[in-house]
Amino acid sequence: MNPQKNIYILAIESSCDDTSAAVLHNNKVLSNVVATQKIHEAYGGVVPELASRAHQQNIVPAVHQALAKANIDKKLVSAIAFTRGPGLLGSLLVGTSFAKSLSIGLEVPLIEVNHMQAHILSHFISDPEMKTPSFPFIALTISGGHTQIVLVRSYFDMEILGETLDDAVGEAYDKSAKILGLPYPGGPLVYKYAQLGNPKAFSFPKPKVKDFNFSFSGLKTSILYFVQRETKNNPEFVKENINDICASIQYTIVGILMDKLEKAVKKTAVNQVAIGGGVSANSAIRAALKERKKTLGWDTYIPKFEYCTDNAAMIGIVGYLKYLEGEFTDQGITAKARYKLTS
Ligand code: KG4
Ligand code: ZN
Repeated sequence: MNPQKNIYILAIESSCDDTSAAVLHNNKVLSNVVATQKIHEAYGGVVPELASRAHQQNIVPAVHQALAKANIDKKLVSAIAFTRGPGLLGSLLVGTSFAKSLSIGLEVPLIEVNHMQAHILSHFISDPEMKTPSFPFIALTISGGHTQIVLVRSYFDMEILGETLDDAVGEAYDKSAKILGLPYPGGPLVYKYAQLGNPKAFSFPKPKVKDFNFSFSGLKTSILYFVQRETKNNPEFVKENINDICASIQYTIVGILMDKLEKAVKKTAVNQVAIGGGVSANSAIRAALKERKKTLGWDTYIPKFEYCTDNAAMIGIVGYLKYLEGEFTDQGITAKARYKLTS
């Protein structure tokens, strides 16, 4: 791949409940605007129909803001990159249609991007606060929709070593939070309370799942039964023990993730480990990874907070890498709710 000068990518991400637009100059981020949709909080989860309507409202201002913050004229844009999938179909359709129209309007090529590849390739954004892994490396992608351990041989040669068989790790956080009566999205709140609690106060069973796969639905059920049992004896149980409960849930989740990651590193003998996805914003996971750096000699790669949760900058870096390879797509492209990482 020959790096070329002065490629400007305008990127759009709309796979779930964040509308985001970014501008990259080569592999550097000039702007990364994220419009978070608050409307879902009242419903305890993302409502697909409301998400796509909010994307329609947010997408034009987000793109305008991204261009304004980057301080470039839209005539300079070299290509439009957009999230094709996986995600909510109605949400993806908004970004896809908008990207297609923009590519016609600006007379520039269109580049489709797989959201999960983007979480992994976010590590290739050039940023003084981040270091870039070399190939091969192991990626742990943990988000509200996915949990995967991936062997990354090159930018576009990836192999899924294991993934969740049911709930994603973000869902495990969010559903546990819901059981505890916390608002959506509960992941960051569970983390907040966990910081003040004793991780060994309560114990929850770890699932027995083969190979490098995960399962989180059993954990959610055992938390539900535990809370029901305890509140029968003491209706104030959750309120009185919120910190310890959250710390114990988090301890179990991080333990499950790290056990599998250690196995994957052992089996592949690849000890460069990178994390990505919304849940990698969690400092307990970051700390667990750093711990393995010390004790097991791993090289660890942790993206900046704003490149962990859904954002268009990560779509832009994939756009840039595909631009260098001349990998463009035509106007016949459609959004893909189920879009495999390796297809
Ligand atoms: O990658 P992302 O922004 O969207 C998806 O593609 O799903 O991930 C969102 C998920 C949510 O489940 C949210 O609760 C979780 O990431 N999350 C966290 C934290 N910040 C976001 N989970 C635990 N601790 C956090 N600090
Ligand atoms: Zn995501």
